Amino acid sequence: MDIEKRTERIKARFKDVFSVDGEDITFVRAPGRVNLIGEHTDYNDGFVLPMTIDREIITAFQARSDGLISLHSYNFSLSCQFSLNKIEPERNASWANYVKGVIYLFREQGIKLSGMNMILEGNISMGSGLSSSAAMEVATALSLQLLNGFEWEPIEVVKLCQRAENEFVGVNCGIMDQFVSLIGESNKALFLDCRTLNYQLIPFLNEDLRVVICNTKVKRGLAGSEYNKRRKECEEGVSYLKKYLPDIKALRDVTEDSFEKYKCFLPGMIKKRCQHVIKENQRVLQSVAALRAGDLNKFGKLMNESHESLRDKYEVSCPELDLMVEIAWETEGVLGARMTGGGFGGCTVNLVKENKVAEFEREIFKRYREKTGISPEIYVCQAGKKAGKIEIVPVKIEEGR
Ligand code: GLA
Repeated sequence: MDIEKRTERIKARFKDVFSVDGEDITFVRAPGRVNLIGEHTDYNDGFVLPMTIDREIITAFQARSDGLISLHSYNFSLSCQFSLNKIEPERNASWANYVKGVIYLFREQGIKLSGMNMILEGNISMGSGLSSSAAMEVATALSLQLLNGFEWEPIEVVKLCQRAENEFVGVNCGIMDQFVSLIGESNKALFLDCRTLNYQLIPFLNEDLRVVICNTKVKRGLAGSEYNKRRKECEEGVSYLKKYLPDIKALRDVTEDSFEKYKCFLPGMIKKRCQHVIKENQRVLQSVAALRAGDLNKFGKLMNESHESLRDKYEVSCPELDLMVEIAWETEGVLGARMTGGGFGGCTVNLVKENKVAEFEREIFKRYREKTGISPEIYVCQAGKKAGKIEIVPVKIEEGR
């Protein structure tokens, strides 16, 4: 559905829910993301290479003068209202916590905020690992800046959004998702150093190539607890290795050579986890070099290796993700395929030759459904828009008709 239709239907809902005329509504968008390579490296101070997608969260908002925030989710048809003076996590409306967390933290930073009515609408499948939550946080942060007339450095906004998720929502995620949602651009890979937050946008898609996302439509309940467990295991790895490499602060600082030398001192499982992270960081650097050299076959191979490592060493894949990736590997015209995001379900990311995309879609759909009974969701990434205000172009009414 095009943006005009979406904003029109949000506006209609706005009038219904808030009983206002809705003429002074402002719209903001923030995109979801797909991670091309560099999985579970962000919280190890490492490197990542995500890209924004053409699926996004849209907010529509206007000020109100009574110090209340009134939120409505278009997709869930649910509302929630609270006072700016009492912002606490919601038990029954977890979608609202991403918004509340951002509001809470801006206030904590001493920013004076006005009350507002706000609708959130989105077309990023929730819980599919495409970062609808980071997009909600970023869209909220941009909306608050516009409504209240203050401007922050984008990197500070990213950090605040990550804190909202860590401290308010209670998910201990890294910085990748919020970073790419605010700063990324479509059809460009964002090469980010998660320690220094230096980044580069690398154009890599041409007419002959597509990024295709396939949703397994499964989501394991394990995702949250296992995620935190992996973080702990990495920290444990660092404390073991510190005995021999006292200068390291994170797995990012461990070279492949020194890991080879000292890995015999690590317990088996910790060794596997560290091995994934250390090699995955190298794979991101090699991917960036390959993209710069236009060597997309090499990039595809690195994606495949990343999947194997996530499956065997980091153990965050699941049978459905493995099946989908294996079908892709066997399909003609696929340069690379891997699971993407935190794991335990969600999506795969595939680099596919443009002239083979239709065949690829057929093959994945048919074979995945045959084996699992689930109809997967498949979509080919198109150029999307950067996070920011949506300029609504008034519809021209032609005279004389
Ligand atoms: C989730 C987190 C990210 C990152 C990935 C794994 O998407 O939100 O910060 O850790 O998992 O790469």
